[in-house]
Amino acid sequence: MAPSPHDDSPQERARRHLDGGTPAEAVSLLRAMVDAGDTRITVVHDLIRAHLAAGDQPAALTLMQRLATAVPDRADIQLQFAGLLHHDGRVDDALAVCVAAARRCPDDVDVWRSIDRRASQTGRHRMAFDACRRVCALAPREVASWRRLGITARRARENAVADEAIDRWYELDPTDPTAAHLHAAHHGGRPDRADPRYVAALFDSYADGFDEHLGKLGYRTPEAVAALVARLLDGADGAGAGAGAVIAADLGCGTGQVGVHLRALVGHLVGVDLSAGMLAKAHQRGCYDRLEQAELTEFLVQHPATFRLLTSADTLNYIGDLHPVFVAAATALLPGGHLVFSLEAGEREPDDGYRLEPSGRYAHSPEWTRRALATAGFAEVSVEGSVLRREGDVDVAGLLFVARLPGTGNSPG
Ligand SMILES: C[S@@+](CC[C@H](N)C(=O)[O-])C[C@H]1O[C@@H](n2cnc3c(N)ncnc32)[C@H](O)[C@@H]1O
Repeated sequence: MAPSPHDDSPQERARRHLDGGTPAEAVSLLRAMVDAGDTRITVVHDLIRAHLAAGDQPAALTLMQRLATAVPDRADIQLQFAGLLHHDGRVDDALAVCVAAARRCPDDVDVWRSIDRRASQTGRHRMAFDACRRVCALAPREVASWRRLGITARRARENAVADEAIDRWYELDPTDPTAAHLHAAHHGGRPDRADPRYVAALFDSYADGFDEHLGKLGYRTPEAVAALVARLLDGADGAGAGAGAVIAADLGCGTGQVGVHLRALVGHLVGVDLSAGMLAKAHQRGCYDRLEQAELTEFLVQHPATFRLLTSADTLNYIGDLHPVFVAAATALLPGGHLVFSLEAGEREPDDGYRLEPSGRYAHSPEWTRRALATAGFAEVSVEGSVLRREGDVDVAGLLFVARLPGTGNSPG
């Protein structure tokens, strides 16, 4: 359809080029307008878009900087400028632009949200927390405001504020599995297990930074679990079957930190996890023969008499009542098969077998766990204390279990 005369200005023609995938033509039309002295915001803005569409990021950034300087009170332009700086790798500069925008536009909630996001990404926990407080003041009816405050307050060690934020989040959306789980954790609740939707959402959001973050915390559980497995498969306890013969599953495999050690120790290795994000990382690591997105108890039930070895590092602490897991593990293991796993011990031993901690993870009592293993049919159980990682300046105390089903290690099933 031919354009009507009144919408055939150079700017309209440039926009049609932009929509039609010919950005170079849009750049020349808009550039001519700007060079002729037309510095209306919409024109400059279209030229920035055209430069970006044409792949000329430096030209877009230069122009955006000029525009942002010209209109310091336009929060939307400042945020776009910050976005371009961020895209250019100038993460600190992007944050500085947002902070300056917040001074000029203190009631603009998007500016404070952007500060939260950028400060969180660069590890400035206190700044992110302060920004979230402001967001909550400006947008108190929005669930996301309280969710972010809960998270950033915890990181800034403002635990009282975190608890309050989680309460508000839960009040606004009691159906949210994360809010429900954390609310229970802060109020002494004792659900049997963390909702799988909470676990999947948590680790999906965590997958990209998981290895780096855990590295900083001195995470050593995967090596400890692998060392126990190596000892078993060595045959020192008479249960060795030879690496090639061992079919194993790593339950809650995450990004593959255990798998990378197990690879040389077993013949066939399956990784199981709820989180698609974590599984994608494990896939990149390439240490599993097969990866499956599944809840680990359900996976075990569906694979009777299949495995000689099951491992689970830093995962069963998302489940309180371990009886169903142990029964399912006994079903999935071959006679003589082993289950090697870690649990958290908690600062003090749980009175009643297990306790949901404010962290959202469970601590277990070693004696209760032993009894649960015995009830499920495991005959030999050893447990040793271990430091799993550090949190802040504190060691997280753990328990490393090796449990064996009765029967000979070489029986096929
Ligand atoms: C802290 S990460 C540990 C990952 C890995 N084992 C390691 O040591 O690096 C816990 C993992 O267990 C998974 N997970 C937790 N509960 C699970 C369940 N019930 N079924 C399957 N995966 C689960 C999470 O998605 C997450 O990837």
